[in-house]
Amino acid sequence: MCGIVGYIGHRPAVDVLLKGLQRLEYRGYDSAGVAVLNGSLSVRKKKGKVADLSASLAGSAPAGTLGIGHTRWATHGFPSDVNAHPHTSADGSFALVHNGIIENYAALRERLQRKGFVFASQTDTEVLVHLVDDIRRSEGLALDEAVRQALSRVVGTYGIAVVSEEDPDLLIAARNGSPLIVGVADGEHFLASDAAPLIEYTRQVVYLNDGEMAVLRRHSLEVRTIQNVVLTKTVHELEWDLEQIEKGGFEHFMLKEIFEQPDAIENCMRGRVLPEEGRIKLGGLEDHHATLDAARRIVICACGTSWHAGLVGEYLIEHLARIPVEVEYASEFRYREPVLQEGDVVFVISQSGETADTLAAVREAKSRGIPVFGIVNTVGSTIARETDAGVYLHAGPEIGVASTKAFTAQVTVLTMVALLLAERRGLDPERIRTYLREMAELPDKIRQVLSQNERLATIARVYRYAHNFLYLGRGYQFPVALEGALKLKEISYIHAEGYPAAEMKHGPIALIDRFMPVVFLAMHDATYDKVVSNIEEVAAREGCVIAVTEDVDGTGALDRLCEHVIRIPRVRDFLSPILSVVPLQLLSYHVAVLRGCNVDQPRNLAKSVTVE
Ligand code: G6P
Repeated sequence: MCGIVGYIGHRPAVDVLLKGLQRLEYRGYDSAGVAVLNGSLSVRKKKGKVADLSASLAGSAPAGTLGIGHTRWATHGFPSDVNAHPHTSADGSFALVHNGIIENYAALRERLQRKGFVFASQTDTEVLVHLVDDIRRSEGLALDEAVRQALSRVVGTYGIAVVSEEDPDLLIAARNGSPLIVGVADGEHFLASDAAPLIEYTRQVVYLNDGEMAVLRRHSLEVRTIQNVVLTKTVHELEWDLEQIEKGGFEHFMLKEIFEQPDAIENCMRGRVLPEEGRIKLGGLEDHHATLDAARRIVICACGTSWHAGLVGEYLIEHLARIPVEVEYASEFRYREPVLQEGDVVFVISQSGETADTLAAVREAKSRGIPVFGIVNTVGSTIARETDAGVYLHAGPEIGVASTKAFTAQVTVLTMVALLLAERRGLDPERIRTYLREMAELPDKIRQVLSQNERLATIARVYRYAHNFLYLGRGYQFPVALEGALKLKEISYIHAEGYPAAEMKHGPIALIDRFMPVVFLAMHDATYDKVVSNIEEVAAREGCVIAVTEDVDGTGALDRLCEHVIRIPRVRDFLSPILSVVPLQLLSYHVAVLRGCNVDQPRNLAKSVTVE
């Protein structure tokens, strides 16, 4: 949450900063601001979107080739011009942007106020600015040294960038818990919270680790630890390209990403699902087969949509490999002293690879000596680097705040992991070969589901004014029901709940009346007849049922009982979540668009939650 950009070079900094902030806007959009150095510092900031800031700069954008920018997701202090970043020292000579939370800000603030510092905002960030200023003045230090010393006195998380009138060839960056990447090019350096703002200019990047600080000049880059140990950093090559982070003709990133799912799944399986050889090859886990073979229990930790993928993973691994699985909210795992024993293996799932709670779960498990594997989309992200090993999704960048293609890719990876574990535990190779063949057909089957987009838009029109939705499914469809409800509430602000279908009679049935749309996931698995009975119960209470089912000959019961029946191709039960979630994504998307909601940037949310 919160996006940071920085630039030092020969281009007009404000252009690089505004474009970069737009690409980072999914991280927060409460306010935006820039500070540009051109002899003196110009700071321009504004409540609202980056577009509002850009509009306010039209015709009066500050000139200069060094600057920093920020797009905010409010933690301390409501969204306002004054709480917007950058924050400046009392004399206006340096400016700082911050992503994270300074936990000891109250004590520091009191101490600084006693010394005469006046605070203009309610943010924790301003404390850091005045602390740097205080150290700089009282100890007569250069800015980079004062920043370093200030950081050793704060408790909490930060990604920061600082520019100063003192030195027109200096951009300081530091991180602890909030991601930062440096882009390296000829005579210029870029800084950003993730790779999206850099791709247009360079593919050469240096990832900063926690506890590291970078001094960027036009022709040099020096990285050291906060304890002042100089480091030699590796320059990495970025994999994603510019086209992937643009909308490519779609109205929203979310719709583009829903439609990218066939390709995303194909890329995710490439070189890994090998039906001809009858085996799964997951290169990242190859050196760890012995650990996986010895696993007596698997604990999956994640947040949000990734947690829902984890639930599907539980069903998959228990069903196929017969290993007990527990799925934990990463935020709960860390604080409840989880019982971890020899033979436990932890898998964490994260699209961004930066979610603070999931990262904390990685560290908790590692500190107890438990092997931790990652299922991550963003290459080079903190979780990808801190886990012992893992499997990348290869789904391409996901920019819409509501996760779509990452979910289906996560479930695809979990299916591959489950089959790998099953294969190594002796599952019949012929069965594995059959399963792999069926997996290879999934991209085409997703295309068939996507061809019903118009139909889902029509259904959305009927229910766009509903106040509540219920999503019900059993077995593999239960986590899909949870995910369908989450998608709808995230982007349309309609209250929605997901439940195991059979639990309906223990509570949610009380809510049902003719104004309550109920989405049933009714696949032709062992529970189909029971789910049809649940649908009867809803219909008897005048609830409106939208059913997602498979395209096989049935008794016609669903057509009789439901207002709308969406048919998707029949696949094996354990592969069905990858298809059945797609109509739910499209339904949410169309309802949100019809309600005039900002689909890609829903209120109060952020894509990458780097605070606890
Ligand atoms: C936020 C996003 C969700 C995402 C969750 C976990 O809440 O809005 O879309 O599922 O974080 O993020 P991760 O990057 O760890 O998968």
